[in-house]
Amino acid sequence: MIPATESKEATERRKTIGFKPVVSIEDELNPRLAQEARFDYAAHKLNLDDGMWKVLRQPTRELIVHIPVQMDDGRIEVFTGYRVQHSIARGPGKGGVRYAPDVSLDEVRALASWMTWKCAVVDIPFGGAKGGVICDPHSMSQGELERMTRRYTAELMEFIGPEKDVPAPDVGTNEQTMAWMMDTYSMHQRQTVTSVVTGKPINIGGSRGRLEATGRGIAVVCDQAVQKLGLNPGARVIVQGFGNVGSGAAHQLHARGYRIVGVAEVGGGLWREEGLDIPALLNYKAKSKSIHGFPGAELVSDSSVLITRECEILVPAATENVITSRNAAALQCRILCEGANGPTTLPADEILAAKGTFVIPDILANAGGVTASYFEWVQDRMGYFWTEEEVNQRLDRIMASSFADVIAYAETHSVNNRIAAYMLAIDRVAYTTRQRGMYA
Ligand SMILES: NC(=O)c1ccc[n+]([C@@H]2O[C@H](COP(=O)([O-])OP(=O)(O)OC[C@H]3O[C@@H](n4cnc5c(N)ncnc54)[C@H](O)[C@@H]3O)[C@@H](O)[C@H]2O)c1
Repeated sequence: MIPATESKEATERRKTIGFKPVVSIEDELNPRLAQEARFDYAAHKLNLDDGMWKVLRQPTRELIVHIPVQMDDGRIEVFTGYRVQHSIARGPGKGGVRYAPDVSLDEVRALASWMTWKCAVVDIPFGGAKGGVICDPHSMSQGELERMTRRYTAELMEFIGPEKDVPAPDVGTNEQTMAWMMDTYSMHQRQTVTSVVTGKPINIGGSRGRLEATGRGIAVVCDQAVQKLGLNPGARVIVQGFGNVGSGAAHQLHARGYRIVGVAEVGGGLWREEGLDIPALLNYKAKSKSIHGFPGAELVSDSSVLITRECEILVPAATENVITSRNAAALQCRILCEGANGPTTLPADEILAAKGTFVIPDILANAGGVTASYFEWVQDRMGYFWTEEEVNQRLDRIMASSFADVIAYAETHSVNNRIAAYMLAIDRVAYTTRQRGMYA
């Protein structure tokens, strides 16, 4: 993890900023430490100066709020929420809001800095931010979710805004959540401000193509990787997670002629060697709310085993830490295309590198979503909306050229694709930060 050539001075510097080279299993699963370790390594390779190292390693701002909500049965419940702004050097903060029982400040910190690097990799004028509320959205009514969302938004009034920080959906939130956030912000401003959030419904300022954009971006970078590695068309794909990102990626890849042989979900997955009929599976899930019981496919009870089956491309599109030191050696994919944020741990990276797996890192692979969010923000501010073809063409161009940028960086600097993506991003953010100078 520490480069063999590290200078004594750099080792000392790491000590002063708390870098821990040996990771325990707890540390391995801590996304903030994983992010910091990769940042440290990439910053070291870039020869980033000490001051900039310190500036970019820490979030700019962290906000913790405790949100009282009247539940349907009359009880008052208090939920804890976060908003972390990692960087606003290249533009307003940008990043989703996650509703889940296991949200933590460290997770939100990691996700916020990944947003900074992601926006810089695809070269869009945003910094990085992220939010989250500790709750179980699946056990809450629509009324409870609406009240919690509105109060959370009200607590963030001074921190978010079209020119400050622009939230979007993430795990556990959706278009409806964004509509409530936009409306609450607008009520406080006494005017409709659609560009305060992205991922909204199309009729209230959402962008055509936004919902499918993350999956589309994944398909574009898979096309590029397949071409680069000279793999045959019709490559076999396993997708983990069949939510927004996973089902979108499966749909886009299926439409391009890939064979989706496996879909892994909570409680078991599906397998079909000849390829699953993804449009039919999407219809089935829309009706039955689950993929289980889909006719004509083998049911694999253990999803963690399913992702280790033979395929050319594995797309983890569920959650963090699913590829760890415990299962990385068992993966048989040639390409790992990270749809989720942080699916691969630091020790797993090293195992995959030794095996020669071609990794398309999260901050590149799933950047289609934030790129389309940028388009939404632009359209809202113009008040002029593009066709789906225009959105898709622009998205495809950005994803393909960002893939080429990362690969060129990896080859020039002899680093793996993940470190190349970090280096490219850190370089861009550091350049802007230096140009702006330190306000003191
Ligand atoms: N929504 C976006 O536009 C977007 C953009 C970029 C990155 N991401 C990232 O992609 C990931 C998924 O986001 P989403 O919006 O699709 O969420 P989602 O909640 O719509 O879908 C996640 C799916 O994964 C399944 N899942 C969870 N744990 C699993 C496991 N261990 N094994 C198999 N399946 C599992 C869930 O049942 C669910 O169907 C997250 O890491 C998110 O941060 C999302």
